Amino acid sequence: MAKVTIDGIEVEVQDGINVIEAAKAADVHVPHFCYHPSLTVVGQCRMCLVEVEGMPKLQAGCATPIKDGMKVHVWNDKVDKARKGQMEFLLINHPLDCPICDKAGECPLQDYAYNYGSVTSRYGEVKRTYPGMDRTPIGPHVVQNMNRCIHCTRCIRFCNEITGTSELAFFKRGASTEVGVFPGVPLENWMSACVTDVCPTGALTTREFRFESRVWNLDSAESVCNGCDVGCNIFIGHRNGQVFRYRPRVNPEVNDHWLCDYGRFSHEKYDTDRVVVPKVRHDDYLGISTWSEAMEAIVDAVNDATSIGVIASANLTNEEAFLAKQLFVDRMKAKVQVTVDPIGPIKMKSRTEWLVGEQGGPNFRGVSSILGGGSDIGSCDVLFVLDATFSEKVNVEELRAKAKLLVVVSWDANHPLAEAADVLLPGTIHAEKEGTFTNLQNRVQRIHQAFPPKGQAVSELELFRRIGAALYHDAAEFRSADAYDIFASLRESMPAMQISEEMPAEAL
Ligand code: SF4
Ligand code: SF4
Ligand code: FES
Repeated sequence: MAKVTIDGIEVEVQDGINVIEAAKAADVHVPHFCYHPSLTVVGQCRMCLVEVEGMPKLQAGCATPIKDGMKVHVWNDKVDKARKGQMEFLLINHPLDCPICDKAGECPLQDYAYNYGSVTSRYGEVKRTYPGMDRTPIGPHVVQNMNRCIHCTRCIRFCNEITGTSELAFFKRGASTEVGVFPGVPLENWMSACVTDVCPTGALTTREFRFESRVWNLDSAESVCNGCDVGCNIFIGHRNGQVFRYRPRVNPEVNDHWLCDYGRFSHEKYDTDRVVVPKVRHDDYLGISTWSEAMEAIVDAVNDATSIGVIASANLTNEEAFLAKQLFVDRMKAKVQVTVDPIGPIKMKSRTEWLVGEQGGPNFRGVSSILGGGSDIGSCDVLFVLDATFSEKVNVEELRAKAKLLVVVSWDANHPLAEAADVLLPGTIHAEKEGTFTNLQNRVQRIHQAFPPKGQAVSELELFRRIGAALYHDAAEFRSADAYDIFASLRESMPAMQISEEMPAEAL
């Protein structure tokens, strides 16, 4: 360990880390563009200059390792002047198009220009532009505007060092230097959209999100991707009950700064008709009902049934699985099947290792450890399908033939199982839920509700609670549908179920 002083604040940090990282321990931000904690150091942009006592010239913070006793100045007149000069150089050629740039509002270049730049420039000549390169699709997801590039090489290093696919490179020289792909080789690796996260300007944006919303008009909720069992940490960008984008939330243990393209854009499946009211089938017609009519149909059928089956999906949270266990297994003695589709494999890089996602659901481990269950329930009087989207390979006719009464929970109104149900209950998507998922490393990670369920839908926890309360009036376990209360009960019966340490949000 090394004791160092950053702007008068003494901190103890790991020996050899660079000044930018050491300054974080003192809560001092060193402005930087080319440095990225998960990429190699290139010392290219000179934005991170700091003064180190005893050294004759200003030093690049990203390329200066900490030594015991070092005294560093990040904010003094000398450094400030150099920083302003550097901003002036960078802005010689950068267009003044923040008002029409999708990065505005979350752009380091804009923030630094505003906070540390000069209001005037001594360079009045015509700006260099890249004619015809201001909206170039360079891959299926990424659109490039070369005029906004500051040549930091983060995107090039990402493709060289993380995916190892090397699609991007510098072409031409000097002030004409361009970032681009090789002819006939588009940027289409499985994590390609990560270059838009590492890019510190609006030079690289995603085809899917550009011009969809100004970022300051979006709210953000901390969650976990439900594309596979890696469980990458995400922010859900949303407004008025609609998901606009997923962004990576830094977690060095799982997804570091990254997301795969499949997971990043997987919320597009929610842009569909939603089930917003319960429905009950009468005389072969599935018609809108009240919640009490739907509950009545379920209570009557369960009371008359001699065999009950449950197909649970890997999309259930641990809390939902626990309440489902209390309701269906402990009380109804139902047979349970937990199914998940294989996927990928999808490779995801944590700070230290590659993880490989192989299941097309986020919580197979959690659900199967809580609910147990086999792979086929056979025929039964009442069959509950706890999320119609449990498998893409479902044979609706076969499933229909298994049960006298089919109860389906679904958020997707166009799903064939929703149309085949005798009782259809509106379900929620994971942006509408509070709870936890257990990933392939057995990390138990929280997801937070971004917005409330649609229409008359209620959380699956409330849904199970309502069924439980209607059937077993005095049962204590169906008094609360609060995810935190239920997690506490779950921990009592499974002490190993511990929330993994939540990672503090880290600035790029
Ligand atoms: S496109 Fe973005 S990430 Fe790539 S070099 Fe230019 S500014 Fe840097
Ligand atoms: S690796 Fe899995 S969890 Fe991560 S972003 Fe991709 S689909 Fe989502
Ligand atoms: S961040 Fe240090 S030179 Fe770019």
